[in-house]
Amino acid sequence: MTRVLSCMQPTGDVHLGSYLGALRNWVTGQHDRDVFHGIVDLHALTVMDVPDVVGQRTIELAAIFFAVGLDPDVATIFVQSHVPEHSQLAWLMECNVSFGELSRMTQFKDKSSKRQGDFISAGLFTYPALQAADILLYDANEVPIGDDQRQHVEITREIAVRFNHRFGDVFVLPEAVTPKAGARVMDLQDPTSKMSKSSATDSGIVYLLDEPDVIMRKFKRAVTDSDNEVRYDRANKPGVSNLLDILAAVRDTTAEAVAAEFTQYGPLKTAAGEEVVERLRPIRERANELLTDRAELADLLRKGSGKAREIASATLKRAYDAVGLVSC
Ligand code: TYM
Repeated sequence: MTRVLSCMQPTGDVHLGSYLGALRNWVTGQHDRDVFHGIVDLHALTVMDVPDVVGQRTIELAAIFFAVGLDPDVATIFVQSHVPEHSQLAWLMECNVSFGELSRMTQFKDKSSKRQGDFISAGLFTYPALQAADILLYDANEVPIGDDQRQHVEITREIAVRFNHRFGDVFVLPEAVTPKAGARVMDLQDPTSKMSKSSATDSGIVYLLDEPDVIMRKFKRAVTDSDNEVRYDRANKPGVSNLLDILAAVRDTTAEAVAAEFTQYGPLKTAAGEEVVERLRPIRERANELLTDRAELADLLRKGSGKAREIASATLKRAYDAVGLVSC
């Protein structure tokens, strides 16, 4: 059976980009694939330096995972720090990736340039090695992600090929899977930048737990352009194209098909806002309900982490044996 693995950082409130680019596709795959989804709290530490935040955010993200429809009976939902094999395999990954390869990572360049004059951790630089461990530990065939994570899956493949060549066939080569619409949701106020938790303001970010009136306001104020023609053209009409792409993702169709239905920006903004509100309404309600019992969420995470460890420990042993470490 196809094995699927994907993860999310508990660094901030989950937004529409993470939902359309990743989460909703995790749910559709869960019944005919063997799926693993991690809350990668150790990754969050690369940019988080205050005590007691990461644990709260982990529980909140678990509520979102279950609220969007991940079913703990079929999907293994785990916390990265509960499975120590992630950190252990990450060291082998670090020893099989070069400084030059890590230096070329767009995400490192972006994040470190936003932190100029601030503390830039070594973890932010070696982050892709930990991500490679996340993926390779589970023998994942598919990694459903948004566009911005493609480069990280590419480097994972390169590390796996190198490791297999040096030490023998240990790792399965994963494929990145991105959706036809929604793989790169842009900020509604700045449609040339992706919707991101690290944006300076949140007026262009739609959060999964936003109230309907807040969502509608954000869509109605979305930046478009002045020529008033509804057409899908990412390069020349980024704002309008982003709205078309969002609506296409919600409807499971193409942006071109949606564009054919509208002649004016106003009705497009209203339709996108209303359909997003309706899609998110049950998720918000369910997440808020689940968050009333945080102990139950923590319990579900512990169970998932136990299942994840069974797979992860076998892969780590295979990798240690291949390298030739003396077994303990
Ligand atoms: P993270 O936590 O930033 O994002 C989680 C997922 O959401 C997608 N995403 C988007 N998709 C479309 N449009 C957007 N604006 C948008 N913003 C976020 C991301 O592509 C991602 O799929 N490094 C990863 C976490 C990670 C991981 C892994 C992912 C760690 N280990 C192993 C896959 C497999 C990250 O920071 O994602």
